Amino acid sequence: VIELPGIPFVDLAAHHAPIREELDRAIDAVIDASQFVRGPAVAEFESAFAAYCQSENCVGVGNGTDALELAIDALGLPRGAEVITTPTTFVATAEAIVRTGFRPRLVDVDPDTWQLDPRALRGGLGSDVGAVIAVHLYGTPAPMVEIDRVLEGSGVACIEDAAQAHGAAYAGRRVGSLGRVAAFSFYPGKNLGAFGDAGAVVTADAELAERVRRLGDHGRAGRHRHEVVGRNSRLDTMQAAVLLVKLARLDEANARRRAIAARYRSGLDDVPEVDLPVEDQDATSVHHLFAVGCDVRDALSEHLRGEGIATGMHYPVPVHLQPAFRDLGYSRGDFPHAERIADRTLSLPMYPELPDGAVERVCDTIRKYFGAH
Ligand SMILES: Cc1ncc(COP(=O)(O)O)c(C=O)c1O
Repeated sequence: VIELPGIPFVDLAAHHAPIREELDRAIDAVIDASQFVRGPAVAEFESAFAAYCQSENCVGVGNGTDALELAIDALGLPRGAEVITTPTTFVATAEAIVRTGFRPRLVDVDPDTWQLDPRALRGGLGSDVGAVIAVHLYGTPAPMVEIDRVLEGSGVACIEDAAQAHGAAYAGRRVGSLGRVAAFSFYPGKNLGAFGDAGAVVTADAELAERVRRLGDHGRAGRHRHEVVGRNSRLDTMQAAVLLVKLARLDEANARRRAIAARYRSGLDDVPEVDLPVEDQDATSVHHLFAVGCDVRDALSEHLRGEGIATGMHYPVPVHLQPAFRDLGYSRGDFPHAERIADRTLSLPMYPELPDGAVERVCDTIRKYFGAH
């Protein structure tokens, strides 16, 4: 019996190998200059990333959760305001709302696209709502044009949770330029990943960007002057230097992710037991994750593991059913679409270096499992 090599869920070592020397040089330069906080690479990355997002301003921060918190905080919502988001996201989205002193109001996702449902958003709007966080789930943009239409004239600000979607676009515009403000994560496994925790806030609004910068830098407004009670959440120079090297290759990596997604789609097309989120015509996904829905998700995942294929789940417990958010008073049955997705979602291996042959093997293994040929 020939043992096939395993297929990992992501492979960061494979991503770094071809750019290793460039990364080493960038890191060496930071060590040589020894300006580890607010060094020149930070401003350089901020302006490059703002331009990449087709926006005006970028503020590097400590991580994606901080980016969300600082964005919410900088909006200056009234005390007691509610912030709408969906239960189908990583907990950080809801966590940031609670940590900034506001209350998450959850609305269900669209059962076909798995994204924030603009109709549910319309139903969720009320006088206490100050903002909505639209999550670009799995790297696919939320339906931003419809969301804008729903929010028009309401005074409700749209925050993009773009943690999974660097480079994705909706109706020809990049995420980061679609809402009032956007939060990005550069967690190592993201499409654009640092060598540790890192994040950024992107906005066309220069004043808002300045408030974010101030809040993340101890409220500093000049030498020895602190105007507001801030906190410490800054992008390290070292991370900025690494991100600059990787940003130059992001489009190429995202294009490869799209090619892999297309291959998965055609390979799984005639397997009725497996369904995929429907792609919105206006959305250009960067496929941070490739998730499928399946009634026998756990059994399939176990079978794939036995065949040496790693999988993930994003996310098997929706936000409203997490113990941490018990106080919000939701229970099972409140968001049937989100709950069905959580029960059935399975993420297949997805990273730019994943060879075509491995994608075929994953598809073949799934097809054989369900008796399709
Ligand atoms: C949708 C979403 N929002 C927020 C975050 C938080 O980012 P970080 O882990 O950098 O704090 C993540 C990633 O972890 C995420 O996937």
